[in-house]
Amino acid sequence: MVYQSDSLSGEVTIGGAKNSALKLMAAALLAEGVTILHNVPDITDVTIMSELLMAMGVGVARFGNRVEIDVPAEINPEAPYELVSRMRASISVLGPLIARFGIATVAIPGGDDFGSRPIDMHLTGLERLGAKFSYEHGNIYGKAGKLRGAEVLLEFPSVGATENLMMAASLSVGNTVIDNAAREPEISDLSDLLNLMGAKVSGAGTSRITIEGVEQMVPVEFTVIPDRVEAATFMSAIAVCGGKALLRNARPEHMRMLIRKMEEMGMEITLDPAGIVIERNTTTKGVHVSTLPYPGLATDYKPFLVVALAVSEGLSMVTENIFAGRFRYIDELVRMGADIRAEGRHAVVTGVSCFSGAKVRAHDIRAGAALVVAGMGADGVTEVYEAEHIDRGYENLAGKLTAMGAQVERA
Ligand code: EPU
Repeated sequence: MVYQSDSLSGEVTIGGAKNSALKLMAAALLAEGVTILHNVPDITDVTIMSELLMAMGVGVARFGNRVEIDVPAEINPEAPYELVSRMRASISVLGPLIARFGIATVAIPGGDDFGSRPIDMHLTGLERLGAKFSYEHGNIYGKAGKLRGAEVLLEFPSVGATENLMMAASLSVGNTVIDNAAREPEISDLSDLLNLMGAKVSGAGTSRITIEGVEQMVPVEFTVIPDRVEAATFMSAIAVCGGKALLRNARPEHMRMLIRKMEEMGMEITLDPAGIVIERNTTTKGVHVSTLPYPGLATDYKPFLVVALAVSEGLSMVTENIFAGRFRYIDELVRMGADIRAEGRHAVVTGVSCFSGAKVRAHDIRAGAALVVAGMGADGVTEVYEAEHIDRGYENLAGKLTAMGAQVERA
């Protein structure tokens, strides 16, 4: 349940990055013993990853935002459909399993709310390192002797494929070069963890990553980077409702393109030693946005920008270049009075003065959170159904928004 909020204030602490924490948990499989991760958000996707590791015989325990992952010498290297179908990021155990145990069974993830989401680059990349795959009964059966380093040229800088390859190549023999690698901050975070575990990864954050294989890796203690998409969510809330807030721990260097777009819209952003301060003093105006791999504008930010643009002055053109099907929430925003026409990868947003509270449905994590933000800028009451999607990626979103002066209740 979301009520209109006029102005937000105060501060909010940004939690650990979902899309980093999940991969760091998978990377723990590369070493026997107890890996300790700090700043792990308490969200459903992390619970699913914990269940997945536990189903394999790994011990996982949470103490506040610290998660301890105890990997034994032998495990059952299987990711069952029941868990993979709930979370696609489960595919990130494939690389570590093949590299360390020489065998893996992982259910094929299938499509999702963004449309078809292939994993061909994960598989062909791992094949370049010597893995062999067969497909039966909805599962991928992977096998390998010792993996051997190789040159891999990705067709697209896929985040997940880059991560799977980095993890697998870390425990191979010889050198691997990943060209056209993804450059997201979460890739650098994974590289930092792997190197602390004894791997030799260089070039993370650039499009050419080199990995010198090592024979063994060791468990370590590591802190997850802050979640740039959670920070974007609160930036959008300030753009829609007005006010000023400190986003504690947000890392401006991870969000440069979003900050630039927000400034173009008329938002005031100040870099503070504690994080980012964002303020709205004037009416925001429309800008054109186009999603691209990092350091371009992240596709995950787009729903938050669209919501803010929908109540900004003038016309905005929004283009999605990463996931063709990632526009489903627009129908929900139109039900809330937004003037948006979407066709294919493009949406034309014409600003209206205010959303109109309505019953709407969350189709995925980001779309769900964006609808909450829209509800805060809507007259009347907004009810977001299937809010469990939001819980997959946000720890206490309602509580954090309420602390900033909004009225948001999680039923
Ligand atoms: N793709 C392929 N083949 C592959 C892999 C990807 O064709 O083998 C395509 C995808 O279909 C897509 C594009 O390449 O069109 C990019 O996909 P990518 O692999 O980069 O995305 P991902 O690793 O599946 C992660 C995040 C997403 C985020 C994208 C893009 C995680 C768990 N998920 O997905 O985050 O949108 O990168 O930055 O890290 C979210 O947090 O809500 C979320 C969806």
